Amino acid sequence: MHDIQHILGIESSCDETAVALVRTDGIVLGEALMTQFEDHLPYGGVVPEIAARQHMLHVEPLIRDVLERTQCSLQDVDAVAVTAGPGLIGGVIVGVMMAKAVATVLRVPIYAINHLEAHALSVRIHDSVAFPYLLFLMSGGHCQIMVVHDVGSYELFGATLDDAIGEAFDKTAKMLGLGYPGGREIERLAKDGDPHRFAFPLPYIHRAGCDMSFSGLKTAVRTQIIALDQAGGLSAQDKADIAASVQHSLCTIILNRMDRALALCKERAIPVRAFVVAGGVAANGAIRQGLQHLSERASLPFVAPPMHLCTDNATMIAWAGLERIRRGIAPSNLDFEPKARWSLTDM
Ligand code: KG4
Ligand code: ZN
Repeated sequence: MHDIQHILGIESSCDETAVALVRTDGIVLGEALMTQFEDHLPYGGVVPEIAARQHMLHVEPLIRDVLERTQCSLQDVDAVAVTAGPGLIGGVIVGVMMAKAVATVLRVPIYAINHLEAHALSVRIHDSVAFPYLLFLMSGGHCQIMVVHDVGSYELFGATLDDAIGEAFDKTAKMLGLGYPGGREIERLAKDGDPHRFAFPLPYIHRAGCDMSFSGLKTAVRTQIIALDQAGGLSAQDKADIAASVQHSLCTIILNRMDRALALCKERAIPVRAFVVAGGVAANGAIRQGLQHLSERASLPFVAPPMHLCTDNATMIAWAGLERIRRGIAPSNLDFEPKARWSLTDM
């Protein structure tokens, strides 16, 4: 594989169509992303059918855009890496078909990338974090804690049994009549609120392991909002207090689970070198601060990829391909299937 120089990455598993061109020496030549935020806004969440149609409209112009901006031609592409799952299947199919077309025409290798693996490795794009490391992936769609032992070797410590953390933020925001996605809005509102006014439940924090659950919290928030509403309406202060209390509860759950994960590493003598956080929720100041504090106590460096690599993007997809090429891992057969579900422990 020594003649591979340029890897084209394609991502289309949720509501962002993204393309990137990464060189095998690790230099990111160019990246382009089209968010479907506006298309899904009226529905308060991602509509799979709309997402698939939008990916189809945008993927080809984005490839053209990246190639033009990097002054490369399609013939310069030596390998293609594409998200093959997990994700909304319609969108995944669009990206995979485009990637297969490019790889077939150019007669170059193709790498079917697990989207979660790409998130897990994304911290290595800018920081040379060594294996093994502890990762907390928290976004609107993913919520899991794992040890990244090596490329292709992941040990799941725990995951959510219902909603992802981002979803918990988004659903609370929706109940409070705030915009979508709601995480940032909740954080903004929480600054003026009392985090201790409402003691929302902290499901699962007394259970062993690192699994999480947020549905009980969501129900409690709904019940509280209805109660306040019936007692004369929700004031601006009530809303701020709910936002602050929810954020505080989510933060408490996250820190509790991460503390367990660190203890588990110690117990099993896994010599983790860093504590890594990725996903859109990692933008939250309170959560970030809490996690940073926790990792300092454990004498571990706390690392988060830059925000644009924390959220869905194609650079991490190309990068996951690059990591596989560097390890001499064989490319995928062209007949691989897109997958709606694909566990990281099933690599
Ligand atoms: O990684 P991401 O951009 O997309 C995927 O879900 O794949 O994450 C988006 C999620 C949304 O649920 C959003 O509400 C949440 O990240 N988020 C935040 C903040 N900014 C974004 N949650 C809490 N605090 C924030 N500042
Ligand atoms: Zn993602």
